[in-house]
Amino acid sequence: MHKPTHIQGVALEVLAKEFGTPLYLYDGEKIVQQIQALQTAFAAVPLRIKYATKALSSLSVLSLIRNAGAELDAVSLEEVKLGLLAGSTAAEIIYTPSGVSFAEIQEAVQIGVMVNVDSLPLLEKFGQTYGSTVPVCIRINPHILAGGNLKISTGHKDSKFGISIEQLPQILELVQQYQISVVGLHLHTGSDIYDAAVFLKGGNVLFEAAMQFPDLRFLDFGGGFKVAYSSEDKATDIPELGRIVSAAFQEFCKTYGRQLELWIEPGKFLVSEAGYLLVQATVVKETPTLNFVGVDSGLNHLIRPMMYDAYHDIYNLSNREGATENYTVVGYICETDTLASQRQLHTVKEGDVLVIQNAGAYGFTMSSNYNARLRPAEVLLWKGKAHLIRKREEFEDLIRNQELIQW
Ligand code: LLP
Repeated sequence: MHKPTHIQGVALEVLAKEFGTPLYLYDGEKIVQQIQALQTAFAAVPLRIKYATKALSSLSVLSLIRNAGAELDAVSLEEVKLGLLAGSTAAEIIYTPSGVSFAEIQEAVQIGVMVNVDSLPLLEKFGQTYGSTVPVCIRINPHILAGGNLKISTGHKDSKFGISIEQLPQILELVQQYQISVVGLHLHTGSDIYDAAVFLKGGNVLFEAAMQFPDLRFLDFGGGFKVAYSSEDKATDIPELGRIVSAAFQEFCKTYGRQLELWIEPGKFLVSEAGYLLVQATVVKETPTLNFVGVDSGLNHLIRPMMYDAYHDIYNLSNREGATENYTVVGYICETDTLASQRQLHTVKEGDVLVIQNAGAYGFTMSSNYNARLRPAEVLLWKGKAHLIRKREEFEDLIRNQELIQW
């Protein structure tokens, strides 16, 4: 994998000095290129990209993504509100919550976002409350096991998400009973899905179900396009994905009798590779079995290695040449928080800056204050200029909402 010393002409060493470590750094141009790659691949269909906000929801990133022509998929009202604050309109947002109270759904309707219904009880309440007055999308569980990791697979038959395709008759009954205005069908089978054919398989489930819904405006294929986390790792072939899914979609639209929109919800594909987590080596510690590098970060900032056994490439920014050694890079959290296990890195000494790659998606958004540690700053590079888009947290942030009662 490319291990940059500079991005958009800006030296990472300089950024580490100027903003300090740990630091989340995002390459805005890479994000825009990824959006353009999807727009090109799906040029044959009316495409709407609904970026999965949960991957990285910092306001300036959302604003950049909107400027580049993408809209939003939000999973909480807070994500909806972040999107609105960053400039999206309610009409551009699809709201796909999982098992929330009806009060939240009502607030979403009030705001004006498209609600994606993921259970029969919710569909029934929706019908009782709104009848045919509020257009809605239905999330189908297609019973497809996709991707390599069950923890991030969401479309298999035992998954909590969506309404089972086997329950289509019950869906149709409710739609009929309350005259519900179903304008979209949705599925999302999971994350890290390499094989473009899986999206087609999901598509075929949607195509067949769609014939039962005469008022559709769109079909939403969800996200999950895989990016490469190492040189050996594979990525979804986006031009191929665009080609085969668009062809099948256009064919379907002919049968359906009307041109619909095709929606997709990429998260990782847009922001993963654009993100870098810069950390500093605080200790180099040899044990009888391993050579550890401790850094000023940990599972509190990047939980993916611990939560999904995810692999993130890492390199020594401060020493680019000469001998390499085998290191296990660990965080400062009082738990086993191995960020990178037994990697060849150019000799590391205290104070060196290490760069963890593919940190843009599900990095900052899954970070926490565990061990009462503070979250890093975030910097967005755009047109060769570094913009601080989020200040590093301070001790004040930890105590802001607390009431100290001294007993
Ligand atoms: N649409 C829906 C309804 C989703 O639930 C998700 C992700 C996406 C789109 C975007 O998927 P993506 O393109 O980013 O793969 N934290 C895990 C991934 C969990 C994804 C949850 N849903 C990770 O770090 O691998």
